Amino acid sequence: MHGEVPEVLAARRKGVAMRTPSSGAQRPEQMRLLELPYRVGIIGCGGMAHGHAQAYQAVPRVQLVCCADIDPQRLESFRRQYHIPFGYTDYREMLQKERPDLVSIVTWPGLHSEMTLEAARAGVRGILCEKPLALTLEEADRMLQVCQERGTILLVNHQRRWDLLYETARDLVQAGEIGQLLELGGSMVGSDLFTDATHAVDLFRFFNADGGVDWVYAQVTYNGRVRYGHPVEDLALVTFRFENGSWATLRTGRIPEPSFEKGIPFGPVTPYCASRLVGTRGVLEVSGDRREPRLYLMRSGAVGWKVVEPGTPHAEPAMVRSIRALLRSIEEGTPHRNDAFHGRAAIEVIIAALLSAAERAPVRLPLKAPGLSVEALFEQLRADSEAEG
Ligand SMILES: NC(=O)c1ccc[n+]([C@@H]2O[C@H](COP(=O)([O-])OP(=O)(O)OC[C@H]3O[C@@H](n4cnc5c(N)ncnc54)[C@H](O)[C@@H]3O)[C@@H](O)[C@H]2O)c1
Repeated sequence: MHGEVPEVLAARRKGVAMRTPSSGAQRPEQMRLLELPYRVGIIGCGGMAHGHAQAYQAVPRVQLVCCADIDPQRLESFRRQYHIPFGYTDYREMLQKERPDLVSIVTWPGLHSEMTLEAARAGVRGILCEKPLALTLEEADRMLQVCQERGTILLVNHQRRWDLLYETARDLVQAGEIGQLLELGGSMVGSDLFTDATHAVDLFRFFNADGGVDWVYAQVTYNGRVRYGHPVEDLALVTFRFENGSWATLRTGRIPEPSFEKGIPFGPVTPYCASRLVGTRGVLEVSGDRREPRLYLMRSGAVGWKVVEPGTPHAEPAMVRSIRALLRSIEEGTPHRNDAFHGRAAIEVIIAALLSAAERAPVRLPLKAPGLSVEALFEQLRADSEAEG
């Protein structure tokens, strides 16, 4: 462990601080503790952890207090960069000694479940877990169950739900600007289902009022690729149907992709996270992140595309909005857009897609395949790819 112990942090580490106001008059020292910031710990100090640290730093009443990484050099450099008082190479020790109020889990997906359970058992009040929530539904269910039992709010970081670009697209759909939503199409060029397409599945659900999916059909090729410590496909074509009748098609991997920039049908730029929403009275296209916002609308009967400017240019970044909403969820009980339920729904579609490809058959949801091994599905897909040459 590294770092000094400021007085205010030492008070909180004694474990006496409670933020939930109790009824009746507060003694002065209780009042003082209620005003203390939320103490945040970050587990995993790699690439994406910087996004978490910067977002927490932008939220008032939140203080980065501790971080953990098994790589001591990465830990120390991260700790210094964000002026975090305490660093640990053992995240369990961090949880026990620092007792953070909020924890970000920014490690590889195979570790999310174990770390979530440990954090909830250590009394953490809000967990912001990176996507994908987990690699199996059993792990996801355990995470949801233990967090519910412990009163811990568990979120999955599908942060684009808080990005004005995607939020505006969702609002236009909800307002009926393209009529009834018939079809959602999208791609994660160069990426894969578990790594980035979790965002796409989640956004499709977000655009479609978080409706249920009733079946999934997919073609997947796998040749032994590994990313973030788990197998990932080379190519996937996934079709799924929502209970409200609309259809979604999602592609991943090394696919040629027309640019969604208008007027350049096969341009050199491949925007990330591209979606096309087709309704009875128009089409919306949305892609990219804040650096490269793109949102286009074409109503039926209109000539050409209209560029839609999403909201105010001074809006806060998505993750800052998400963390502010987490504080509201803790203090006021308001639901959060990134509730882990949605993270589970996204991996259910992905696992169903792998199962469908392995069985060469449509898969009905809810998925009833206890003990289903994602590794075994990938091995089946590899054998099929090899057999097909
Ligand atoms: N939401 C997004 O837009 C977004 C973007 C990128 C990555 N991610 C997700 O974030 C997660 C992390 O991705 P990354 O790119 O930051 O990975 P990374 O490899 O850069 O960082 C992971 C870190 O975890 C550390 N680690 C491994 N085991 C640990 C343990 N037992 N205790 C503590 N630390 C441990 C590693 O040493 C490493 O520093 C993944 O789930 C990924 O899918 C999300």
